[in-house]
Amino acid sequence: MRALPSQSARRALLACTIMLGLGLSACTKSVPAAGPAAAVDSGANAAGMLHVPEHYRETYQALGSWAIAAEGKPGSQQIHVVYASPGAAEAHRKNGHFPDGTTLVKEVFTAKTAAMTTGTVSHADMLKGWFVMVKDSKNSHAGNKLWGDGWGWAWFDAGKPAATTTTDYKAECQTCHIPANANDWTYVEGYPVLKK
Ligand code: HEC
Repeated sequence: MRALPSQSARRALLACTIMLGLGLSACTKSVPAAGPAAAVDSGANAAGMLHVPEHYRETYQALGSWAIAAEGKPGSQQIHVVYASPGAAEAHRKNGHFPDGTTLVKEVFTAKTAAMTTGTVSHADMLKGWFVMVKDSKNSHAGNKLWGDGWGWAWFDAGKPAATTTTDYKAECQTCHIPANANDWTYVEGYPVLKK
């Protein structure tokens, strides 16, 4: 049974409706607000179909973020924000590994840069989509080209959190993660909450 949206979720929805009415694009329907008792979604089903986990912004923990420098001008061209499923960071702090079932979600935003009272500042603007990784040390989905080397790997365009466009993780993901091979293919140096 679905929980009723909380009062704050209803208020956020109302604010979004007003903002959309004004032509502002800050609200997106692709990340729905969770009810108070939203269940934790792993981002994969038993058959190995991957998706962006529902309500991850409410049920997951933020790990950290990355800023991709803009070329030839001040500020950033992209901001990446990374979340991990509950318990993953705590386990990693203990033994340096993400346990099986850990899901990592990386949001990719275009960035806007402006003069603010703190200086020249970039902030996240439009969501382009999500990278999702699901830990599976047993490599349980042999023959599925989105699973291997201990993870499920997929990209999802904004607005399509259930349908990946990735067809082969070795070609589309892993080559770029080779520098992070020693840390189970993950760029853990960017995540303050994993530090002891
Ligand atoms: C162009 C190189 C490149 C490609 C292609 C790429 N990644 Fe990454 N990925 C990175 C880098 C570098 C980081 C960390 C820095 C950043 O976000 O810019 C990262 C971070 C991540 C993170 C956050 C966790 C971590 O490892 O720190 C996830 C999740 C992720 N990538 C998944 C994927 C998946 C799934 C694919 C394929 C669909 C993929 N990536 C393709 C380079 C890449």
